[in-house]
Amino acid sequence: MAMAFTEKRTSCPTECTFTETDWNVLAKYWYPVAKSEDVMNKPLPVKLLDVELVVYRAGDKVVVARDLCVHRGTPLSMGWMDGENIVCPYHGFSYAPGGQCVAIPAHPEAKISPRLCLTVFPSVDRYGLIWTTLNGEEETVPPFPKWGDAGYVSFIAPVIDINGSAGRQVEGFLDVAHFAWVHTATFADRHNAFVPSYKVTRTGSGIHTDYLSTVSNYPKGMKDPSPAGFKWLREYDVYPPLTARLVVHFPDEKQLWILNAVCPVSARKTRLFCPISQNFDKTLSVEDACAFNLRIFNEDREMVENQKPEELPLDLQTEAHIMADKTSIAYRRLLKEMGLGKQYTS
Ligand code: FES
Ligand SMILES: [Fe+2]
Repeated sequence: MAMAFTEKRTSCPTECTFTETDWNVLAKYWYPVAKSEDVMNKPLPVKLLDVELVVYRAGDKVVVARDLCVHRGTPLSMGWMDGENIVCPYHGFSYAPGGQCVAIPAHPEAKISPRLCLTVFPSVDRYGLIWTTLNGEEETVPPFPKWGDAGYVSFIAPVIDINGSAGRQVEGFLDVAHFAWVHTATFADRHNAFVPSYKVTRTGSGIHTDYLSTVSNYPKGMKDPSPAGFKWLREYDVYPPLTARLVVHFPDEKQLWILNAVCPVSARKTRLFCPISQNFDKTLSVEDACAFNLRIFNEDREMVENQKPEELPLDLQTEAHIMADKTSIAYRRLLKEMGLGKQYTS
């Protein structure tokens, strides 16, 4: 269970790359900031929505806090752990896992004010990732039900940093017309560019798309064992603002689940975390699967890093749309309804 906070924990940083309106909306949601296995009893610096954070393990708890000592603003990620407490390297203040300062070595006898406290954010460990929220309450981490299922092999694809906006990246993940152009070296085919009509529905808080096509998901160079005329179903679910999930249905009820979970580091920097679960090829070499996914991510990255404007335009008049963009259009509308993209409205 996430801790309940009633007050706004933090506000838009002064050198913020987002508009203040966007930042206030985005800060209400949960994002992954690190792979769970990378969080040790050692401070790890990360950044979310332009806010510098420090992440560490204190006993069985994972702490996510502002990377800022309240004494003189030194990053605590430069410090070290003393048992469950984090120690600032400048004057040695130490802070308990709840954020409270518990030692001021220059004045060991003095009573410590309860106001000497780090800003600590709620965190949860889901699908091998540490998720947090800057100002959110209720957890918004989307369901990824096959993670941990004994019938599936689950792993996290290599984490990549993209010099592009999270909105552009997520829309690229939902885009079905680019396979035949961007992914020809990995799984798609330039001669199969046609995008059949598909259905997009609004779910409770998100979007669901069922896309049926003949685009195979087998890696290039591997013999495609699917029966002639096999139709591939790709089910997309958007968990706004910035998480999306894809289930690819292979022949014989085999499934590949991919969670596109981004950390919006800043308005123009995005860290992509991608938990994957699949119930075929149990002998799968996770190394090979990671290498294959990394090639796909890099193909996508090249597009996302070069699109202009860098932010996703939410005013539908700004860019041209085709039938194949139905999911993207619904996604842009949804983000706008959430109060994002104000800079694009007149
Ligand atoms: S700046 Fe951290 S203890 Fe002084
Ligand atoms: Fe792609």
